[in-house]
Amino acid sequence: MLTGLLIKNIKCLVQTEDVFRSKVCGNEMSELNTVTEAFLYIRDGFISDFGKMKDLKKGNILIDNPQVEIVDASGRLVFPSFCDSHTHLVYAGSREIEYTDKIRGLSYAEIAKRGGGILNSAKKLHETSKDELFNQSMTRINEIISLGTGAVEIKSGYGLNLEDELKILRVIRKIKDTCPIEVKATFLGAHAVPEEYKNRQEKYVDTVINEMIPVVASEELADYIDVFCDRGFFTVEDTERILMAGMKYGLTAKLHANELDYSGGIQTGVKYNALSVDHLECTGDEEIQALLGSETMATLLPGSAFFLGMPDPPVRKMINAGLPIALASDYNPGSSPSGNMKLIMSLGCIKLRMLPEEVINAVTINSAYAMGLSDTHGSIARGKVANVFITKEIPSYEFMPYAFGSDLIDTIILKGKIIK
Ligand code: NIG
Ligand code: FE
Repeated sequence: MLTGLLIKNIKCLVQTEDVFRSKVCGNEMSELNTVTEAFLYIRDGFISDFGKMKDLKKGNILIDNPQVEIVDASGRLVFPSFCDSHTHLVYAGSREIEYTDKIRGLSYAEIAKRGGGILNSAKKLHETSKDELFNQSMTRINEIISLGTGAVEIKSGYGLNLEDELKILRVIRKIKDTCPIEVKATFLGAHAVPEEYKNRQEKYVDTVINEMIPVVASEELADYIDVFCDRGFFTVEDTERILMAGMKYGLTAKLHANELDYSGGIQTGVKYNALSVDHLECTGDEEIQALLGSETMATLLPGSAFFLGMPDPPVRKMINAGLPIALASDYNPGSSPSGNMKLIMSLGCIKLRMLPEEVINAVTINSAYAMGLSDTHGSIARGKVANVFITKEIPSYEFMPYAFGSDLIDTIILKGKIIK
């Protein structure tokens, strides 16, 4: 039997598309398509039609599908669900003690050097069973769903040995198989060098290449491959070796790049046709030139720069140069313990001085691109998956990033089903 959902009297339907775009670049980022006094018709989990209320032929919809459920969204806005293209949300426990160290003045790099940071999370993950890891992660998944996220990329990288990397990737797969949210998995074996490989970094890179990638690929546990290519972590040479090995198995790159230094990570990502390069606090003219004309999405993670008190990336320069920008949460226990994409929009506006239209494009259409979901997610377009949310009564779309601490999401619809 057909299922149908008609949302009527929508005050403003946000991020509509009549003509498909895979991403929005440069000055176009300050433009946002909307329909006021709108309807949205969802059929069998997909967006079937939308338009002005005055053009709604309700009779036709009822003939097409007599079972249609009707929701009145008077005074409220409808957005496509957020796409969060960079998270590490499968982790064990939390690291609020390091947070206190940070408040006392230790840097991210200093904490990592003292065996804290990623290695601390790897230790906790090792001691946690797969079921317990799944349960802890599901709490975060349910949290981000209620905050409006409809698609999420999740990285491994707290295993750092074959067995534990498989544990984390299998948990990601279980989330993919059981949750209504769209999930992409990224293998990040090269997130940090484990203690037992200290001063033998190339040997760990060998292990990632020879022991981990073949198994991860044969079990089809990952869509993408990532490397933390930065000062104090993995070099450009390490990164190139790992990306080449991953690409042999069909794994496309998504890189952690230029968070801590002008590391060459951005150029490496472009060279290997990465889907995205992420963080980018250290971006200069050369990096911008490398990105221009490439297919690689520049993805900024303002939650982590905010939490760590690090300098922000030169986003205005990047947009003026014509680049597309995506924003993601980086949800992880060390540098961004939040998956709240509405807050990420606010940080984009407040910290990066992006316009409301720019941040909305950055958390929908451009972040869908950064996780390989342009065809199906990231906008209100006929034929796309019906992942949308209805806001509470609010005056305008600008109010979403403006009211940075308020919960403004009322109804969540995933694959056409009202789930909250
Ligand atoms: O994206 N930069 C590297 N990795 C994470 C931090 C992970 C952690 O501290 O646990 C990030 O910020
Ligand atoms: Fe990250």
